Formats: sequence, C-alpha cells, structure tokens
Amino acid sequence: MKTVTLNDGNTMPALGLGTWKSREGDAYRAVKEALRVGYRHIDGAWIYQNEEEVGRGIRESIQEGVVERGDIFLTSKLWNSFHAPESVEAGCRETLNALGLEYLDLYLMHWPVAFRSGKKMPQGPDDFWPLSEMPVAKTFEAMVKLRDQGLVKSVGVSNFGVSRLEQLISESGHTPAVNQVELHPYNPQNELLAYCQEKGIYLTAYSPLGSSDRPASMKASDEPPLLDNPIVKDIAAEEGITPGQLLIAWAIDRGTSVIPKSVNPSRIAENFAIASHTLSSKARAALDGIDTRFRYVEPKDWFFPGITYTGESFWA
Ligand SMILES: NC(=O)c1ccc[n+]([C@@H]2O[C@H](COP(=O)([O-])OP(=O)(O)OC[C@H]3O[C@@H](n4cnc5c(N)ncnc54)[C@H](OP(=O)(O)O)[C@@H]3O)[C@@H](O)[C@H]2O)c1
Repeated sequence: MKTVTLNDGNTMPALGLGTWKSREGDAYRAVKEALRVGYRHIDGAWIYQNEEEVGRGIRESIQEGVVERGDIFLTSKLWNSFHAPESVEAGCRETLNALGLEYLDLYLMHWPVAFRSGKKMPQGPDDFWPLSEMPVAKTFEAMVKLRDQGLVKSVGVSNFGVSRLEQLISESGHTPAVNQVELHPYNPQNELLAYCQEKGIYLTAYSPLGSSDRPASMKASDEPPLLDNPIVKDIAAEEGITPGQLLIAWAIDRGTSVIPKSVNPSRIAENFAIASHTLSSKARAALDGIDTRFRYVEPKDWFFPGITYTGESFWA
C-alpha cells in the first residue's frame, strides 16, 4: 500500500474507506471487513452519524489482534455548527467519545461554512454565521490547538478552493496538512491540485466513483453517472480491471489519496486490490482527456449571497 508523507511529517495510506451513507449495522461491518482485508485508513465525520459504529469496528479489530491502533489512519471532520473557537474542542470530543478512541490521526474542517451553534442543518440565512463574524482562520487556529493537546495528530480542511486556502494560510499562519475535495474525471480540479502540490497540502479525493448512493434530494435528474462513462468502461476492460478500480487507480496515479465508500465485502476487497496497481500511461491519458464536467456534491441550500457565498464564489 502506497503511503504519503504530509507536511507535518505524519504518513497517510493513499487508499482509505469512505463511510458517508454507511447505514446502521453496515458501517460497523464495513469497517471490520476493510481492516481485515488490509485497509489502514478510514474516513469518517461527525455529521455521518455513524461514528459509534465506526469506532466499534475499529476497537473490536484491535481487541481481536487484526490491527493495532497505531497502524490505523483515522480521519474525522468538525461539523459546521462547531466553528466558534470555544466549540471546536467540544466538537472533537463528541467525535472521540462516539468512536471510543483517544485521538484522531486527521481532523478536517468539513466545510468553509459556519452554522450558528446548535444548528445541525440550517433552515434559512439566519442560521449561518456571516464569514465576517466567524472567519475560518479563527476556527482553524482552535483546531491546531487540538493537535497541541494530543487529541489529533494532523489538521486539515475540506471543500476549500485556492482563494479560500490562500486566505486561511495568510490569516491563520498555518498551512493545512490535507484538503479533502471532490475529485474524479468529471471534476479533476487541476488548478487546485497544482496549487496544493506547490504548497505541500495533500489532496484527498472524495466521491471518486461518482457517489451514486447519495439521497435523491441531493441528485440532479440529468446527472451523468461516472461509472457508466464509455471511456471509463472501455479503458477498464482493456486494462482488465473494473471501472471502479480504474477510477481509484487514476486518483492515486495523480498524486492524491482516495477514499471510495463501500459496505459490500466484494467491492471493499475489489477497491483495496487496486491500490498497488500501476496505471498505464494510455489509461491515465484517456481519463485525463474526459471533458464532461460535473460536481456531484453541491450544497446549493447554503448559498446566500452577502451572508455566505454565491455558488461561484463558494468553490473559488
Ligand atoms: N469532505 C466531504 O465533504 C465529503 C463529501 C463526500 C464524500 N466524502 C467522503 O468520501 C467518501 C466517498 O465518497 P461517496 O461516498 O460520496 O461516494 P463514492 O465513493 O464515489 O461512491 C460510493 C458508491 O459507489 C459504490 N461502489 C463502491 N465501490 C464500487 C465499485 N468498485 N464499483 C461500483 N460501485 C462501487 C458504493 O456502493 P456499495 O457501498 O454498495 O459498495 C456506493 O453506492 C465518503 O463516503 C466520505 O467518507 C467526503
């Protein structure tokens, strides 16, 4: 398994298991199965509401001698309702309590968006902190203190574009170790990748397979299913691998880490098996050349110009 070294010296396996939408029972079984087949990187979040199961899967695997805690790279994410600097530690401790673990390997600011304290999901513009009142730099500074306290080993962000990263770095004086964003051939974000490589910020690719199990309310009726793309299907057949494996290998070949979600034992194994595959230059070029553009995860309900962002400025 390829591992990457972060800008703080910690190492992260290039392939991890995603856990968003992994339901009750499934999340626990998927984590146990993933650790059994060799995954050493699990991606979770407070808002996925399954951290108790993720933690149970990890703790049982440790007790059964499958793996040691020190060999697992576990990520969680600070939810938007914990952005007030005085709430950051409480948000992290809620996650650690649910997991039943003492530390996280990576703690990410889930979104560059702050909800008023206690608002799990906003109902309208009044439920957001205007950015001017709750700058992400202040939240990030509080997250860095968690590292100093030993609650987390690395600190990063998620869903940050170039201009938001530049602002965060200049205002906080800290460079995140990781930025986790949506990356796949329909949303390759080449400019963001180049910027992060230059700054030493490691990019992690989320929704690498096109996130087809998102709730219907988050889907566009005409969205293009990534796994059905003819180029992806043809090249996968030529390479003798599955379309899902091709997308994972492409992500790793680009120098990103990647966290496909699965609760299915055969797909958990299939996705893991490809991590050590070397992608041919023809396959790489074919996927780089796909020109369809589509973003699957788009929080349109959070765009309130003047208070948060416009749709365009959000990803800038
Ligand atoms: N930071 C953020 O804001 C953010 C946002 C989105 C996602 N994420 C993270 O990224 C992870 C992955 O993204 P995602 O869950 O949106 O979607 P994804 O990994 O792109 O796709 C998951 C879907 O693909 C299926 N699948 C898994 N392996 C497959 C394979 N080899 N062939 C065909 N289908 C396969 C899964 O079904 P089965 O489960 O039935 O196998 C599931 O329906 C999340 O779980 C989460 O941890 C983070």
